[in-house]
Amino acid sequence: MNERRDHVIVMGAGAIGTLLGAYLQIGGKAKVSFVGRGSHIDFLQKNELSLEFPNGSITRLKVDAYQALDEIEEKPDWIIFTVRTYQTDKAMRQIVKRYGTTIPVVSFQNGLAIKDVATFVGENAVGGEALISSLIVSPGTLRQGQITGLYIGELSGKISDRVNRMRAAFDAFKEHFKDIEVHATTNILGAIWAKLLINATNNTLSAVTDLSVRQTYENEKTQRYSYGLVTEILRLAKRENIDIYNTPIGLAKAFIDHAQSFEAWKRYLEERAPCLGHFKLSMSDMLNRGIKTEVDHINGYIVQKGCENGEKVPYNEALLTVVHKIERGELERGLQSLPPYELLADIVLC
Ligand SMILES: NC(=O)c1ccc[n+]([C@@H]2O[C@H](COP(=O)([O-])OP(=O)(O)OC[C@H]3O[C@@H](n4cnc5c(N)ncnc54)[C@H](OP(=O)(O)O)[C@@H]3O)[C@@H](O)[C@H]2O)c1
Repeated sequence: MNERRDHVIVMGAGAIGTLLGAYLQIGGKAKVSFVGRGSHIDFLQKNELSLEFPNGSITRLKVDAYQALDEIEEKPDWIIFTVRTYQTDKAMRQIVKRYGTTIPVVSFQNGLAIKDVATFVGENAVGGEALISSLIVSPGTLRQGQITGLYIGELSGKISDRVNRMRAAFDAFKEHFKDIEVHATTNILGAIWAKLLINATNNTLSAVTDLSVRQTYENEKTQRYSYGLVTEILRLAKRENIDIYNTPIGLAKAFIDHAQSFEAWKRYLEERAPCLGHFKLSMSDMLNRGIKTEVDHINGYIVQKGCENGEKVPYNEALLTVVHKIERGELERGLQSLPPYELLADIVLC
């Protein structure tokens, strides 16, 4: 007898949401409805989705695409939530209006947006971490980049039946494409903080200086900044009882191992730099495209936690302020946008 397939809605079918929904649809254990906006969804309502993989292969599939939740008749078993972090409140209000608070919502957003999701649906907020990069190259065409794995977990740390069911639905994709690892984890908050640690340093520093990540590893000023950022975040994680070390994110482990002193940190960055290509990350891309960045949920989250804990986090405060100024057109990107560290003590955001 055929097992009943879960109905999964992707809320925010942009770059990562469309990719994750496509994985589920190809895996065959879920029926997927994609809800999004703009030319990408317009295209998908009339044409097939094209997925480009790093090995050059292309897969095409017809998907059910919608402009709004009201257009979907069947109630979902769970929802993949992939709007940008600052779009969370509006999109969650739409979900609650349509389905109440009883449907599990799995957020694969960056930062701690899952906490905002939980304010709407409580224990039905499920944590997700997609260590995958995805880009919409043109409406209806996605390019999957580097892939490390997919992690799902309850915020309570319990491995629940529903998390196992979600994991199995994603895992079914592996029968078609072997390079994805899908895990249920007891430490999803640690994994989300681990990615935050990397984003708050590599992503934000590269974006404000307009340097590649490699160049930020080689420059003395950005080395000092990244050391300041990392030590502030590790101090707060400890205060919040978050275990960043025991997560699958190897880069975060390496950051922790080398952040014992500035000299050790500088040595680590300089040894790593030649192994990196000259790439930039998503926040640079957002600034280039004039899209609001997610900095409020990355360095901004650390500033918020610093305020709550009475901990000074001047490096995170400085970067938050600098990104806001760049977004408002008040500051040019470049190394000069970073205030000299001697002035950081004067920055007070709370
Ligand atoms: N892309 C990646 O490789 C990747 C990997 C891991 C994690 N993430 C995280 O995942 C989140 C999404 O990133 P992304 O790159 O996929 O962004 P994205 O391409 O902008 O996708 C988000 C989509 O959601 C749509 N949307 C927003 N509110 C909506 C609503 N109320 N109803 C329907 N659609 C709505 C947006 O439409 P508009 O453009 O019209 O606002 C956009 O198409 C971010 O937090 C990001 O940091 C991304």
